[in-house]
Amino acid sequence: MNILGFESSCDETGVALVQTREGALPVLRAHALHSQISMHQAFGGVVPELASRDHVRRALPLTRETLDAAGARLEDVDVVAFTRGPGLAGALLVGAGVACALAAALGKPTLGVHHLEGHLLSPFLSPDPPEFPFVALLVSGGHTQLMRVDAVGSYTLLGETIDDAAGEAFDKSAKLLGLGYPGGPALARLAEQGDPTAFDLPRPLLHQPNLDFSFAGLKTAVATALRKLGPEPTDQQKADLAASTQAAIVEVVLKKSLRAMKATGLKRLVVAGGVGANRALREQLNVAVARFHGRVHYPELHLCTDNGAMIAMAAAMRIQAGLASPALDYTFEVKPR
Ligand code: KG4
Ligand code: ZN
Repeated sequence: MNILGFESSCDETGVALVQTREGALPVLRAHALHSQISMHQAFGGVVPELASRDHVRRALPLTRETLDAAGARLEDVDVVAFTRGPGLAGALLVGAGVACALAAALGKPTLGVHHLEGHLLSPFLSPDPPEFPFVALLVSGGHTQLMRVDAVGSYTLLGETIDDAAGEAFDKSAKLLGLGYPGGPALARLAEQGDPTAFDLPRPLLHQPNLDFSFAGLKTAVATALRKLGPEPTDQQKADLAASTQAAIVEVVLKKSLRAMKATGLKRLVVAGGVGANRALREQLNVAVARFHGRVHYPELHLCTDNGAMIAMAAAMRIQAGLASPALDYTFEVKPR
């Protein structure tokens, strides 16, 4: 079965073709991605209306690109999947509309996918996929969650952020440092030049025994530290603050992940979502989990942030597990929240 998947929840348009296999994981046949970063950069963040319009422009050319790369025809598509939410309403509507229109024209069924389930299952696209069960750390721009994952569709929430997400903490701190959008990768780059111990920033909820997170206070602490540096901090001071901010986020995320592994007795950790691309987080997690005789799985670096492959994959895995039955129903709704 060939599943064509569309991702359009925020600032990336992604299309992918995934094929299910008897008794094996589905495989990615091809995918195409267009990032809107350069378009939004001038505005310092994602402009929802511009995002929607660009998804409209990109969806069909990316579909053609995907099918050509896979050596497939539109008629070979058996199911059309799309991100139902969460995300920007207008952006989601474009992907859902294109997917449902294509499916209607082909007479094929559709399937809406939860964006976070796409991130969660994206490590199954890697050459060395994890086995169930595992602890999942989902760290994106909108979510920070720890989950126990026993099978496709069997997810138990262990803890989550009570305010900002880890990605948001990166983005908001980056903005304070004048780094622009997208903040996470920019802050991570600047942090490479800095001393992570230079500023003593808070590690919220670190010493509480639960598995919840809180990052709103960190942003305030970064703002205060910046103010104390005066109107013109040096490049080195900014790099030190970036490194200290990253260190605070990484430490909290790392310690809570280890705590979740200890609490569940599971030795496998799967890290997904955009912040999973952070090099410091990866390096420190690898060392800490290995010490614990466990193993960390990540999606391939280019599949950490939003993409169509993870959406087609999540649809394929749900169908294979008998959890979803695609429907010949071309009315659609999106779930921004
Ligand atoms: O998963 P994602 O692409 O979109 C959402 O579903 O939110 O995650 C985007 C988030 C943004 O907050 C971005 O700044 C962050 O992931 N991010 C990073 C890095 N790459 C992306 N944060 C830290 N270091 C990175 N290298
Ligand atoms: Zn995402």
